[in-house]
Amino acid sequence: MSEREELCNRPVGVFDSGVGGLTVAREIMRQLPNERIVYFGDTARVPYGSKSRDTVTKYSRQIVRFLQTQDVKAIVVACNTASAYALDELENEVDIPIIGVVKPGARAAIEATRNGKIGVIATEATVSSGIYSRYINENDKNVTVLSKACPLFVPLVEEGLWEDPVTDEIAERYLAELIDVGIDTLILGCTHYPMIRSTIGRTMGESVTLVNPAYETARELKQLLHDSGLESDHRPGLGTELYRFFVSDAADKFQKFANSILTYGILSAKVIAIDEY
Ligand code: DGL
Repeated sequence: MSEREELCNRPVGVFDSGVGGLTVAREIMRQLPNERIVYFGDTARVPYGSKSRDTVTKYSRQIVRFLQTQDVKAIVVACNTASAYALDELENEVDIPIIGVVKPGARAAIEATRNGKIGVIATEATVSSGIYSRYINENDKNVTVLSKACPLFVPLVEEGLWEDPVTDEIAERYLAELIDVGIDTLILGCTHYPMIRSTIGRTMGESVTLVNPAYETARELKQLLHDSGLESDHRPGLGTELYRFFVSDAADKFQKFANSILTYGILSAKVIAIDEY
């Protein structure tokens, strides 16, 4: 095998604060079926959405160090909060391609809006970082961005209340002000929100386009791997493990959740001591 082939056969590292990034992994599996994935979910230290920039950056750095021990060829920061707080620093520290979920989502929203009013729903940390509005306005200063933190959506998704009157009620409360200002495009700026896409869509009404950064990120990853000559052009042979999962705690719970959203059945997730990295 040539050196180039060996490089292209390496996995992509994907990480998140926990299970949410599986929505991004799922899109990568769909759109890039030849790529192997090493996924890390920081289940011991979730949530990131209520933590400080310094803490999220420290955790993200440890995860990147761990992923590099797995010989990954590129890294996807599948967590919006980690993309908001840590991606700029990580980009300066690693010598392989690394992308987050914020820019792909923001770019898609700019393309989608017709009336120049974009809403962003995300964790408290992502909203207070101001990253979505900053990035959108750097690219188009005529767009108005309204951001809203929706912290209860994460536990509702993790409790499996995807289609439930409680989730409908909370969605109506959170989204009312976005409806009032007449946004026509809404970014699902947190890994968990695609799981309650129908509730959010129903609440916002048909005229509002929902942007899923997970989908957009997988598209950009495909382009990035292609442009940097790192794309794998064949499905790994029999006996090669296509996807590997690591967590920092509660592997059984992770596995159960993963199997409820991935079509690929995951047999195991390995617990590692992430703070040693
Ligand atoms: N993964 C986080 C995000 O996308 C949501 C969960 C958390 O707060 O850690 O922002």
